[in-house]
Amino acid sequence: MEIRSVCTASIIVLLLSLSSFLKPSAGAAPSAQLVTWMCNNGTFYAPNSTYQSNVRSLLASLAANASRSLFSAGAVGASPDTVWGLALCRGDDTNGTDCASSCLALAPDVAFGRCMGVKDVTVFYDRCIVRFSFRDFLASRDNGQVQTSASQDTVTRDGDARRFDALVVSFVGALADWAAFNTTSRFATGVMVSDQGFPTTSNDVVHNINGLVQCTPDQAPAQCRECLQGLIDDMPAVFNGNVGGKVLAVWCYLRFKTSEFFDGTPMLKLVAPQLQPPTSTDITPGGNGTGWRQHAATVSAIILGAAFILACISMVLIWRNARTQFAYQEDDGPASLLFDLPTLRHATDNFAEENKLGHGGFGAVYKGVLPHGQQIAVKRLDKASVQGLKELRNELLLVAKLRHNNLTKLLGVCLKGGEKLLVYEYLANRSVDTFLFAPDIEKRRLLRWETRYHVIYGTARGLLYLHEDSQIKIIHRDLKASNILLDSHMNPKISDFGLARLFDRDRPSTITSQVVGTLGYMAPEYAVLGHLSVKTDVYSFGVLVLEIVTGRKNTDLFGESAVEEPSTLLSYVWDQWLKGTALETMDPLLDCEVAEENEALKCIHLGLLCVQENPADRPTMLDVLVMLHGHESSFEAPSKPAFTYAYGDQSSLDDTVSGSDRRAGEVVSSVNGMSVSEFQPR
Ligand SMILES: *[C@@H]1O[C@H](CO)[C@@H](O)[C@H](O)[C@H]1NC(C)=O
Ligand SMILES: *[C@@H]1O[C@H](CO)[C@@H](O)[C@H](O)[C@H]1NC(C)=O
Ligand SMILES: *[C@@H]1O[C@H](CO)[C@@H](O)[C@H](O)[C@H]1NC(C)=O
Ligand SMILES: *[C@@H]1O[C@H](CO)[C@@H](O)[C@H](O)[C@H]1NC(C)=O
Ligand SMILES: *[C@@H]1O[C@H](CO)[C@@H](O)[C@H](O)[C@H]1NC(C)=O
Ligand SMILES: *[C@@H]1O[C@H](CO)[C@@H](O)[C@H](O)[C@H]1NC(C)=O
Repeated sequence: MEIRSVCTASIIVLLLSLSSFLKPSAGAAPSAQLVTWMCNNGTFYAPNSTYQSNVRSLLASLAANASRSLFSAGAVGASPDTVWGLALCRGDDTNGTDCASSCLALAPDVAFGRCMGVKDVTVFYDRCIVRFSFRDFLASRDNGQVQTSASQDTVTRDGDARRFDALVVSFVGALADWAAFNTTSRFATGVMVSDQGFPTTSNDVVHNINGLVQCTPDQAPAQCRECLQGLIDDMPAVFNGNVGGKVLAVWCYLRFKTSEFFDGTPMLKLVAPQLQPPTSTDITPGGNGTGWRQHAATVSAIILGAAFILACISMVLIWRNARTQFAYQEDDGPASLLFDLPTLRHATDNFAEENKLGHGGFGAVYKGVLPHGQQIAVKRLDKASVQGLKELRNELLLVAKLRHNNLTKLLGVCLKGGEKLLVYEYLANRSVDTFLFAPDIEKRRLLRWETRYHVIYGTARGLLYLHEDSQIKIIHRDLKASNILLDSHMNPKISDFGLARLFDRDRPSTITSQVVGTLGYMAPEYAVLGHLSVKTDVYSFGVLVLEIVTGRKNTDLFGESAVEEPSTLLSYVWDQWLKGTALETMDPLLDCEVAEENEALKCIHLGLLCVQENPADRPTMLDVLVMLHGHESSFEAPSKPAFTYAYGDQSSLDDTVSGSDRRAGEVVSSVNGMSVSEFQPR
């Protein structure tokens, strides 16, 4: 590479004379610099009031607590003088004691100085943030007013400024991803390098942009990412070619600058894509050579030479580094994240058998780790299972845009080299069935009623979103306990939504040519006749609810005694319901209070309404949500459930059906137990 040889030559010549200039600046103790503050005028406290003394003790307590964990949030004082507060140290601060003593300790100066008497104050220092308020902004996660500032130095010429702004936005977007998924703290630093460089109004050429983003560490990845996106969305209105800037809020903030302003090496190194070939000939890689020489002659050869060499060194190093990093690629829209095949091969150890989480109807699922430590689940679609790359791509782009707390997130796709790979977030607690039906009783006990209700409620919300709220109406078709994944806080997240559509492009409520689903969860009109509607999912949801309440699989047989007819879960619950002893179906491992028993009864009632034979009688998911918020006494009485299948080969009951070889009244299952154990490592 030309740049590299030029660099090498210049380095040899100039290093000799420059070595004394290249000493890194001594590690000066971080000093807190006041960046900006907000005295949210309007509500005041009187001098020497209880509120003031509460503010004083709050600030002391925040600093003390943050000295241990770099973050603290809490309240001090009784109503009406309660003060809520938050303190955050910068993510590259490794010593909380330093942050507390040199930064947080300064907050009272502003609180009782420039903002004396004001009840709601935010102070942004270079290395820490403090806010207090008489409003509980901790509960509402209110960011307050967003503060922005922009450097005076800007990129010259309009065309370049726009291109530069776009680069900065995509750069901080990548940093935001990085921060959101950093497992130790919601923090990321990075550098973006542009080979071409951008000439600026101060006669410099900017090659490197350094960035820093941070969220408070109490936020979940998605929450943090959303917070930062809110700030990123503000950027176009604020910046116009500015080579540095800040968008500051309490729960998250972002900064960028040409010089390195954070401690440690950048976590993320990106090479700015060559978006367009330069339109005018005066921009060549490395800048305007003639211009450089002129500057060198007029200003100082040594200083410019040093800058040039440093730029070269970092450029070459970073260029090398960045090639091995996981690359973000722009595609049709911001929601599409394309992964490189080599990245995913590396992440999953070339799809090693020991990383395999399971094999489902659409293909195998592997656990993987991206270079920056994020765990992912990679679904490798069977090569034969889907045709039409373009169709698949469009479908996935739609699915990727669905964002809801109760849906697993599709992080990206890779459709290259004959591979069709879907990358999902990896969820630590696997799926509901791994608890509900665990062989280990203690593990089953972990699913207390509160958690079960939380799972039912969250699943209902996720399903409602698929049915009603998202732009594309999605019928899941394969809702079941193993498709409800659980994050580390036991929040339920529906997985595999949207995939069934790939197999069948028919619109809802029509007769489908392919049945995709799992026996026992499938509504009879769908399993037998292929009639598909949102009520198909409602049926599956009802089965799931009854499983969660009873702790029994829908394939379990009840009434083992020889005289009794064996019954299914649905008929068993229905019989108890008729006898007025529905609560006896509750999982014996649950030890519930009366209030919880009432909730359980509500769920049984709801479950039975969902599995009624006639789809029109079943509630919609919106009805279900309303019912979950309401009283059971107002529910309609359920009619007899549909009992979908007669007993056959037990072993086939768990299997997913996916195929068109269906004959009237009969479902032929293929042995692929779609995603039944997808998220269980072997
Ligand atoms: C507040 O207290 C200080 C010290 O106790 C005192 O000097 C000052 O006069 C008091 N201010 C008011 C308004 O009471
Ligand atoms: C600081 O930590 C203590 C002990 O964990 C807690 O009681 C207190 O509420 C915290 N204070 C603030 C302001 O967060
Ligand atoms: C932080 O720095 C102080 C002195 O500045 C030192 O006494 C303390 O041990 C440091 N703490 C950690 C965790 O490094
Ligand atoms: C409050 O607002 C007024 C004008 O609206 C301003 O003059 C004053 O300085 C503000 N006070 C503080 C403490 O910011
Ligand atoms: C590049 O150098 C030429 C020759 O000195 C000069 O005329 C031109 O303005 C320079 N272009 C830029 C963008 O600096
Ligand atoms: C996460 O952030 C910490 C700083 O808080 C940093 O030391 C660490 O390298 C980051 N992890 C990754 C994977 O970037």
